[in-house]
Formats: sequence, structure tokens, C-alpha cells
Amino acid sequence: MRVLSGIQPSGQIHLGNYFGSIKPNLDLLGKTDESIYFIVDLHALTTVQDPEILRKNRQDALLDLLACGFDPAKAIVFYQSDVPEHTELSWILSTIAPMGLFERAVSYKEKVQKGISASVGLFTYPVLMAADILLYGIDTVPVGKDQKQHVEIARDLAIKFNSTFGNTFVVPEPKIREDVAVVPGTDGQKMSKSYGNTIPLFGPEKAISKAIMGIVTDSKDVAAPKDSEACVVYHLHKLFLSPAEAEVLAEKYRAGGLGYGDAKKLFFAAYMEYFASARVRRAELEKNPKAVAEIAADGAKRARVLAGEMMEKVRKAVGIRG
Ligand code: ADP
Ligand code: TRP
Repeated sequence: MRVLSGIQPSGQIHLGNYFGSIKPNLDLLGKTDESIYFIVDLHALTTVQDPEILRKNRQDALLDLLACGFDPAKAIVFYQSDVPEHTELSWILSTIAPMGLFERAVSYKEKVQKGISASVGLFTYPVLMAADILLYGIDTVPVGKDQKQHVEIARDLAIKFNSTFGNTFVVPEPKIREDVAVVPGTDGQKMSKSYGNTIPLFGPEKAISKAIMGIVTDSKDVAAPKDSEACVVYHLHKLFLSPAEAEVLAEKYRAGGLGYGDAKKLFFAAYMEYFASARVRRAELEKNPKAVAEIAADGAKRARVLAGEMMEKVRKAVGIRG
């Protein structure tokens, strides 16, 4: 089995991305024949239109992923734009993609509502994502709920293509990761770049500490017993603990005597400890940009072999090759 996932370099990678996408994919490493994880910079262009920012985001995303453990010996890691087969297939799929299917896409409507300009690229975003998936013959795509509709679109396009041009693509299924919790942000809503409520995964200790100390709590004083379930600090801290450890912490909340300031300090310490070795790895990688660039180039080369084989079939199927 081959597993694949993509992450947009549309901002600084945060704790929600880690527990919602990076870690579940890391956990699959070694359990599947092949793991493909890529940085979807072409998708990010639909929202990031400042070249300096995009350049920095994509480099940071690569460093973050490698530091977290996407070891190139175990996973194919690359930038989407380094594998031009993605855009070629995207175009071919767009020619059979029914308009109505895209007009119903929730993510597009939500983005436009948020004020992102309604470009053709934003509208056809799911076609490019379908190409990402279909190029590699993926049968199940593990995604969060927010991406379910996009994988269903990929599925519909695979079926339509196969019935129009003959059996070419594996028809993918979304596999919703029910076990993956929605990570709350510092204000208690879903953590998201677009809400400005994130805790960065890497970066200066000070910035992480500032984000954590800024988590919104109620105003109970130190002595008061507290309901851990109602506290965002507890919910975030719990992500780093075993069930038994989480219970010990919950008891401290209930007993009273643990102020929110101290609860945040405990969480900060757990955070820094959990990511300590990843931070060391990231600092090492950062000193060696040439080696990092080579990892991405090598990943793209390996991806192109797989994507190239599929594109040859597609070109023949539609009649643009002998
Ligand atoms: P953002 O909302 O910050 O723009 P993205 O939409 O780029 O994040 O999400 C990238 C990946 O991270 C997706 O797989 C998404 O499901 C996951 N993810 C993002 N935020 C969270 C969160 N708060 N909790 C769990 N998973 C999340
Ligand atoms: N649209 C996905 C997101 O915003 C990112 C993505 C692009 C992706 N291509 C993919 C995810 C292919 C899984 C498979 O999170």
C-alpha cells in the first residue's frame, strides 16, 4: 500500500497541523510500502501571492517536515511544483470535470466568504488535488474531515475518466481519521492560520511561550478547583500525555491550587520537551541548506518516476500519444 498526503506552505506550520496531519502520517511510516508527503506550493499560490513569503514558507515547511521525522530513507518528500506531471494531469482532468461538482465545493465557498479572491485557480483547486492523488495510484487517502469532499471529487474524476477513456486510475477512497482530534487554538476555536490563534511548531522559544501564555482561560483564582475539560490549556497539554498522565493532570486541576499561569508553564515545559530533539534536528538542517535542497530534489526525482509512468498511460488513453 502507498500512502500520500500534501501540506500547503501557506503560513507557519502549527500544532494543529502537527497533530492533524504530520503526526498521523509519521505514524504510518514503515507500516506501508511507500509513503509520499509533499509540499503543495502550487495550491498555496491560490492564497499566498508574495514571492518572498512563499519562498520562505516552502523552505520552512520542508525543514519542519524533515525535522519532525520524514526521513528521506522512509518517505518521498518533495515540492509539488518540482513534479510538472501534477499540472499536466490537472489540465487533462479539468477537461472532463463537471462544473456543477465544483460549484458545490464547500471549501471554495468558505474561502471566498473569508475574503480570498475568487480566482479560477481557487475554483479548480480540487482538480489539482485530484491530480496529486490519482498520479500515484493511491487507493485510500487519510485526511481530516475538512478534506473529505476534495477526496470525493478525486474519486468522481477517476470514475469519469475511466468510463470515458478506459480503465486508467485507481479509484481512491477518503479515510476520515476520526481519532484525530480538532486541536483548539489559543482562543478556544479550531486552531488555524486564518484565525491568528496558532502555536507555532518551531521558531524562537519566546514566540512559543508568548502564544502559550496568551491562551484564553476563565478568571478562577489559584485556589479554586477547576474543570479541566473546560480548559483549553488542559486540552492542548493532553495531546502530549498518555491517558494515565492526563488523568493525573486533570486531578491537579480539580484539586485547586493550580493557577492558570502555572498550568501554562507546565504545558510549555511539556511542549519544549516533546519537540526538543526535532528542534535540534531542525537547527542542524538549517545550517546545511545544500543538503536539504538535495533531499527535495531527490524526492522529486523519485516522484517523477512514478508520476511519469502514470502520465504515459494517461496521454495514450486520451490520444495525445501514439
Ligand atoms: P489552516 O487551518 O491553519 O490553514 P490547513 O488547512 O493548511 O491549516 O491544514 C493542513 C492540515 O492540517 C490539514 O490536514 C488539516 O486537517 C490539519 N489541521 C489544520 N488545523 C487543524 C486543527 N486545528 N486540528 C486538527 N487538524 C488540523
Ligand atoms: N488540500 C489539502 C489541505 O489544504 C492539501 C493537499 C493538496 C492534499 N493535495 C493533497 C492532501 C493530496 C492530501 C492529498 O490540507
